[in-house]
Amino acid sequence: MNEKQLKKMVMGNTLSSNLLLTVKILFGLSAQVLIIYLISKLVTNAITPRESYPIFIAILLCFVLKAIISYFGAKMTHDRAYSKLTELRLNILDRLNKLNLGFFKEHSTGELTNIIESDVEKVEVYLAHGLPEIMSATLIPLLIFIIMLFIDWRLAIIMLVGLPFMFLTQFLSKKTMEKTMQKYFYHENKMRAEMMEYTKNIAVLKAFSKEEEISDKTLNSAREYVYWIKQSMSGITIPMGLIDVFMEIGVVFVMILGSLLLYYGEMSITKFILSIVLSAMFIAGISKTATLHHFSIVFNEAVKRIGKVMNVPVDDNKSEAALSTGDIEFHNLNFEYNEDGFSLNNINLLMKENSLNAFVGASGCGKSTIANLIMGFWDASSGSITIAGKDISKYSQASLSSMIASVSQDVILFNISIFENIALGKAGASRDEVIAAAKKARCHDFISSLPNGYDTTVGEMGVKLSGGEKQRISIARMILKNAPILILDEAMAAVDSENERLIGEAIDDLRKDKTVITIAHHLNTIRNSDQIIVMKKGSVVGTGTHSELTKNCKLYADMVKAQNKVDAWDLRKEV
Ligand SMILES: Nc1ncnc2c1ncn2[C@@H]1O[C@H](COP(=O)(O)OP(=O)(O)OP(=O)(O)O)[C@@H](O)[C@H]1O
Ligand SMILES: [Mg+2]
Repeated sequence: MNEKQLKKMVMGNTLSSNLLLTVKILFGLSAQVLIIYLISKLVTNAITPRESYPIFIAILLCFVLKAIISYFGAKMTHDRAYSKLTELRLNILDRLNKLNLGFFKEHSTGELTNIIESDVEKVEVYLAHGLPEIMSATLIPLLIFIIMLFIDWRLAIIMLVGLPFMFLTQFLSKKTMEKTMQKYFYHENKMRAEMMEYTKNIAVLKAFSKEEEISDKTLNSAREYVYWIKQSMSGITIPMGLIDVFMEIGVVFVMILGSLLLYYGEMSITKFILSIVLSAMFIAGISKTATLHHFSIVFNEAVKRIGKVMNVPVDDNKSEAALSTGDIEFHNLNFEYNEDGFSLNNINLLMKENSLNAFVGASGCGKSTIANLIMGFWDASSGSITIAGKDISKYSQASLSSMIASVSQDVILFNISIFENIALGKAGASRDEVIAAAKKARCHDFISSLPNGYDTTVGEMGVKLSGGEKQRISIARMILKNAPILILDEAMAAVDSENERLIGEAIDDLRKDKTVITIAHHLNTIRNSDQIIVMKKGSVVGTGTHSELTKNCKLYADMVKAQNKVDAWDLRKEV
């Protein structure tokens, strides 16, 4: 969906509400013209009170009809705007669902919340208020001009004298106005997103005494925001002032020419008063169009940002069919996050079905990136990953997810009970199944010892768990899912050696009928893997079993040596 289509979808069909608005404006204007007409007649004694009754009734009728139509019109535009708002939010959420998971690593929660909350709100304001106002601000001056032509065509023409200058100012200021507004929106969103991230991460910031540094940064963006508000306001108010001046010229000319015509008896006093009041109304209407330009800019900017989500190409042709389990293969795979960033280079791998595979390598060499690619977070730049010979990029996230269960480096537990946290692994899981999974993940004992057992709430609002405990709960969730492929990214990073042994045993159980991919820093835990994959700076430098690699791969041999030294040192320290 491009920006044009998106706008079209957002605006929808405005014909019926525009029609109502036009009728409302016609009634409103007729009432006003009748009032002015009546006053000017009464002032010049050209009408008796009795003669004026029908006019009174007509005015009243116009007002009543206008009120009724106004009610239905407002109801209609608001109903439409709010249903559009909901539809748009649902569309955005639907699109977010379809996007590659990698998208969420690149866009902060703050940014996305902003789009769903405030930008969609801006669209609503435009649809419910902006559009009708723009419409009435264009229609009223046009109607007044037509009426003026009937009153006196010379006055009608002279009324427009300031118009070319006004349009010129508008034209000249349009670019700068749009630019400043864009900057203003950029800073507004930046400030909102930063504030959100700041409050979200305040605990970590405090722990590292970074709050001053970061709050300075957040404050700075707030200051920038205020600066740009001031800037954009002067960018708007100066041209607005000029536009007003050029418009007022019109009334002055109508007055001058009108009084001349009146003096030479070419015009009645009624028409004279009528034209002065009407030209003032004309100006009020026209200058409003300029103000309302601001509405459209706000709308366009909001649509642009909504487009950041809606216009990301998603491959709708991805198959929902179930993938079958089998060997996982990398074929000449290349991948980069962005130009001149980290890249994976020409990766060729074979991970046999129901085997245990371990990735090792220095921090930042690309182990998690490989795991995330298998999970479909991103698509390869070139080459492919296949499972049982099927290219995974052709399958939807849902089909892929059903094949893979994972424990990632950042464990995510929700503010719900331990039972529910584990049960997320499988829809409708029974208590027994959850307990069985917990036993396999070696976390049943510690859960049972909690006061509320499996019903203990975890997370921000509940009991605080240790890193290792959280890790084991997420392993239980992974086990419960019972997917044929398991990915454990540093699953043992936060457990003590006793638990490490227990989880190691659990993994050994699993490897019998599952393809397991682990990423570990501690080499002892992966020693008995079927295949160890050694990585360095985005490339695979060796594959094989522990004994093969100690002979053939210098990097691995060095790593083992270093690990042994560390372990020996640990032991000595403990004795
Ligand atoms: N979303 C991203 N956008 C851009 N670069 C990224 C992104 N995620 C990771 N990187 C970069 O890619 C490189 C590899 O990261 P990766 O997480 O795969 O390393 P790793 O081998 O898992 O390291 P560790 O052992 O510390 O977990 C790093 O240099 C990292 O900065
Ligand atoms: Mg990692």
